[in-house]
Amino acid sequence: MISRRAFITSGASIAAVGMLPRINAIEAAERPAQLELVAGPGQANLLAGEKTKTAVWAYNGAAPGPILRATQGETLNVRLLNKLTQPTSLHWHGVRLDNRMDGVPGLTQKAVAPGESFDYAVKCPDAGTFWYHPHILASEQVARGLHGIIVVDEKEPPKVDKDVVLAFDDWRLMSDAQIHAASFGAIGERAHGGRYGNTFTINGTTDYKLAARAGERIRLRLCNVSNANIFGIRFEAHAPTVIAVDGQPVAPNKPVGNVIVLASGQRNDVILDMTGNPGSRSEITLITFNEERAVGEIVYDKSPAVRTQPLDAPIALPANPLDTKLDLGSALDASLVMEGGAMRGLPGAWVGKEWLGMRDLIKKHGYIWSFNGRAGMPPEPLFRAKRGQTVKLRMVNRTYWPHAMHLHGHHYKQIAGPPKMPLDPHWRDTIVLSAEEEFTMAFVADNPGKWMLHCHMLEHQAGGMATWFEVTA
Ligand code: C2O
Ligand code: CU
Repeated sequence: MISRRAFITSGASIAAVGMLPRINAIEAAERPAQLELVAGPGQANLLAGEKTKTAVWAYNGAAPGPILRATQGETLNVRLLNKLTQPTSLHWHGVRLDNRMDGVPGLTQKAVAPGESFDYAVKCPDAGTFWYHPHILASEQVARGLHGIIVVDEKEPPKVDKDVVLAFDDWRLMSDAQIHAASFGAIGERAHGGRYGNTFTINGTTDYKLAARAGERIRLRLCNVSNANIFGIRFEAHAPTVIAVDGQPVAPNKPVGNVIVLASGQRNDVILDMTGNPGSRSEITLITFNEERAVGEIVYDKSPAVRTQPLDAPIALPANPLDTKLDLGSALDASLVMEGGAMRGLPGAWVGKEWLGMRDLIKKHGYIWSFNGRAGMPPEPLFRAKRGQTVKLRMVNRTYWPHAMHLHGHHYKQIAGPPKMPLDPHWRDTIVLSAEEEFTMAFVADNPGKWMLHCHMLEHQAGGMATWFEVTA
């Protein structure tokens, strides 16, 4: 067994090694009571081997920002200081936290204005992999680099040799390596799949290397932090086992074709046994709708295998304290119909108390999508549930595009779907509905407060795909 310090330090496998371990490599006892994340301009070395740096927006100078680490049940105390020229906030994606800390301006807090700060106390009831990012003007702020991973350790994690975070991103860069800013807010992107990049990175570099030793067992925490893309991820010549989905443990399983598919916002924890030979290399491949591209490499050192047989220690994770007992008999029924976007269009939609035709929707608000005939955050919630009540949520995608629907403060799962499609058994905070699909999800509304439900393709969210619900005490 390796030491706790070595374990944590090896988890800090992010490009900006100099920046990152500040928070990540601190042992629990030494952790500062208060962390500070300063959102402001920074420089990133995204492109391997180039001298050109990319101007980004960063947390503490790094994009992605530092890995925040807690043990299950602990509270992360984080002061956000805004040194941007725009308002911002921090949302703790997937953490079932206190509603006041959810970071949604206009719903749970006031936006943090330039020069101001906000103190977040984020209690982490679930072990697993989560992430943080702004929840205002997110389609620009996240694309410019504002996001980071949260690791919540089990009190007794499964035995592995290394624990490594891999954040997958796409950036839209111009030939001078700078972010293509002219396309922020483009209605065409809102109406289609969202902002796709031309440069793929793992942990902020196009040249990521996963250092391995033959025979090791590595726990990987994979997260899609891109604005809108859906990524297939393949570790060539290796066979991952998925052990958690969106921070919730699952029965260990092998993904079809060894490809892990993550939409924007989704995470998978996987176990990878390093079955390659000493000194060998193999690619990490990113698969998108258009192409396959190597985005990194597993690099074995030359030393002999640490063990000859793969570990036979258990890899199944202990359950989180998620209420999975659905009471469908007395459930509250809600439904959400998605419309709009390119290829289908929209006659118009309600915005607040005003009905606007398509032209005015676009011109006045940049909206091109609707939920139940409304675009943008409605004045009234989609539903109000009593604390502890089961909610059945029928979701109908009448658009030509997939949508990654993110539920705040809770995890939900499919309970009914199209006849020939097997139901996904996993509890998730972000569920993808393909074009023309209809599913019913369910969850126990046990976290009081006002929570968003929106498409995590951030241009779709900006284009109107946002609503909220309330859980009353
Ligand atoms: Cu990851 Cu409401 O967002
Ligand atoms: Cu969408």
